[in-house]
Amino acid sequence: METTKVAVVTGAARGLGQAISTRLAKAGFCVVAVDQVDSLETVAAIVRFGGVAVSRSTDVASPRSVDELEAFLTSEYGRVDVLVNNAGVFPKRPFESMDLEFWRKVLAVNLDSQFLMTQAVLPLMKASGSGRIINISSNSVGLPVPDFVPYVTSKMGVIGFTRALSVDLAKYGITVNAVAPGLTKTPGAMANYDEVALEKMTERQPVKRAGTSEDAASAVLFLASDDSEFITGQTVVVDGGLVRL
Ligand SMILES: NC(=O)c1ccc[n+]([C@@H]2O[C@H](COP(=O)([O-])OP(=O)(O)OC[C@H]3O[C@@H](n4cnc5c(N)ncnc54)[C@H](O)[C@@H]3O)[C@@H](O)[C@H]2O)c1
Repeated sequence: METTKVAVVTGAARGLGQAISTRLAKAGFCVVAVDQVDSLETVAAIVRFGGVAVSRSTDVASPRSVDELEAFLTSEYGRVDVLVNNAGVFPKRPFESMDLEFWRKVLAVNLDSQFLMTQAVLPLMKASGSGRIINISSNSVGLPVPDFVPYVTSKMGVIGFTRALSVDLAKYGITVNAVAPGLTKTPGAMANYDEVALEKMTERQPVKRAGTSEDAASAVLFLASDDSEFITGQTVVVDGGLVRL
């Protein structure tokens, strides 16, 4: 009997991370739902349809917290097949009124976390000779969005990290790709945007419907699957055709 594959998803408690976790669980992965808060809702939704998931609270920007997660993954599962680096923050603030602390906080959660989480799962992926790392970027890197300088910088950093890392990890059978969603109705996004902003974005897209968390989850599932074996270092933009990278 084949052993169940393990997928670790960060920022899994709500929004895109919840949809990604659910989709991976439906595809048969055992999902470790990682978030700074408990991912109880996500785990309950997965268990309801007979899937397997566990909630693990971790601050993915904290080296110590990620070390604890690494120890848990090693002792509890001894394998990680898929890592989805999804946790992120997108606070809006004019550049003139932000300080270094604000800048560093956004970069720590959105970019340092992907470094820390990748290092944490790498020994297990290397040991199995395969792995899928999917980093969540954003289509905002290709749009003139005001007041998001650290966010857009971090999301462009995610694309650079993905490209460079894919080169180093190919020899271990590990692929590294990014998914760049467009504006999607999640608790995080709705803290900055309203329904009118969502409608305006939809009008600008060649595909005239609002993007959903499921759209991003579909792309992640493909990149997590065996079918994407020959694809690495790429960024898939999931935004109805608005931005081309
Ligand atoms: N929703 C959008 O429009 C959109 C568009 C493009 C990209 N994205 C990206 O998708 C990802 C998910 O966004 P979302 O819209 O679901 O946001 P969200 O705010 O609804 O959910 C983000 C989750 O990340 C968790 N998180 C934040 N900081 C953390 C930390 N230090 N450690 C662990 N967990 C932490 C939060 O607790 C939350 O559960 C982010 O990286 C975001 O930048 C979102």
